[in-house]
Amino acid sequence: MKFNLSEEQILVRDAAREFAQTELLPDVIERDELQKFPHNLVKKMAELGFMGIMVDPKYGGSGMDTLSYALIMEELSKVDASASVIVSVNNSLVCFGLEAYGTEKQKEKYLTKLATGEWIGAFCLSEPEAGSDATSQSTTAVNKGDHYLLNGTKNWITNGGRAQVYLVIAQTDKNKGYKGIDVFIVERDTPGFEIGPKENKLGIRGSDTHTLQFNDVKITKENRIGEAGFGFKFAMKTLSGGRIGIAAQALGIAAGAYELSLKYSNERKAFGKEISNHQAIAFKLADMATDIEAARLLVYKSALDKDQGRSYDTSSAMAKLYASKVAMQHTVEAVQIHGGNGFVKDYHVERMMRDAKITQIYEGTSEIQKIVISRAILKD
Ligand code: CAA
Repeated sequence: MKFNLSEEQILVRDAAREFAQTELLPDVIERDELQKFPHNLVKKMAELGFMGIMVDPKYGGSGMDTLSYALIMEELSKVDASASVIVSVNNSLVCFGLEAYGTEKQKEKYLTKLATGEWIGAFCLSEPEAGSDATSQSTTAVNKGDHYLLNGTKNWITNGGRAQVYLVIAQTDKNKGYKGIDVFIVERDTPGFEIGPKENKLGIRGSDTHTLQFNDVKITKENRIGEAGFGFKFAMKTLSGGRIGIAAQALGIAAGAYELSLKYSNERKAFGKEISNHQAIAFKLADMATDIEAARLLVYKSALDKDQGRSYDTSSAMAKLYASKVAMQHTVEAVQIHGGNGFVKDYHVERMMRDAKITQIYEGTSEIQKIVISRAILKD
């Protein structure tokens, strides 16, 4: 397997790196502390084409491949995982779903605005009682002929307070199990739709996470995506691609913490020499570098599976499972290498440690990834 990046891929990776260093880095600590959504930075990322990375240019997208998406996610996440999750959800859960399964009319009306970043999208699957068990939806959409009536509550919705377009998964026929689930496009100002409280989170605090409430929200039939009963498969398919983005995010968090640790340990002296010259630290750095490289290979492999038309359900679960474990483990090590400095905000690694945790939870917990992987290997 060859990972020679093309000229375009190198250019876009470098653009994302430059943007992260010059635009994301300066106020990242303040945004984390005050839970400030990076509104202006999202606009700038949109100008760079990062809100519709893989979308066909005829719908306003950048027309890039999944590997480029992973490279961008990795670079943004080295500095600011809050900014990168906004990008990830918009790209892989919202734009991808609309482009792959939406009607031409839906694409013209919604995708064009989402891919250019004029609008932000949100993906609404999780509920108080249906996070991992995605088939147990209590949000209902009752078929009323020419429209549906949507009722229920969604939890932990990324971009929840900032989006203009929400893809909402709801049960339309309880007797049909997962085949009685549909997905609807809901616009922000639809009567009966309320944005609930913002969550006060451990990590990715610059992103915007809300509870959403739907009270007799009238949705026209033309805002259903796909055939009746397609909602669960829609969610599974979009999440498979989403996991590549989150795996790349975890990789970026780990790589960012590693780069800071390498720099710090070459500067900080203890017992008469740079701490990188102590084997206790050098071995930590060796483990970090090795695990991050292994995670990178899994992430790129899954992106290439998608780009080259192979199934990526299992490889994306593997990439997310492993990269998120590496991110968690090595951000803890990064704090340890930084010692007392690692425990204060100015050195960034404590934020990275907090941010890493969510990569083991959202878009399917690590346990869910193991379900996906074990089913695939036991079936073979
Ligand atoms: N692609 C296409 N179809 C798929 C699929 C996939 N990746 N995965 C499953 N399906 C299909 C199955 O083939 C099956 O269809 P058939 O009967 O026609 O074969 C159907 O869907 C039902 O599949 P399962 O029997 O496997 O369903 P299950 O109830 O056992 O659930 C699960 C499987 C993997 C546990 C699933 O529920 C799951 O992924 N749960 C986690 C949900 C999740 O990731 N939530 C995160 C919320 S979003 C988020 O986090 C966003 C954010 O904030 C950033």
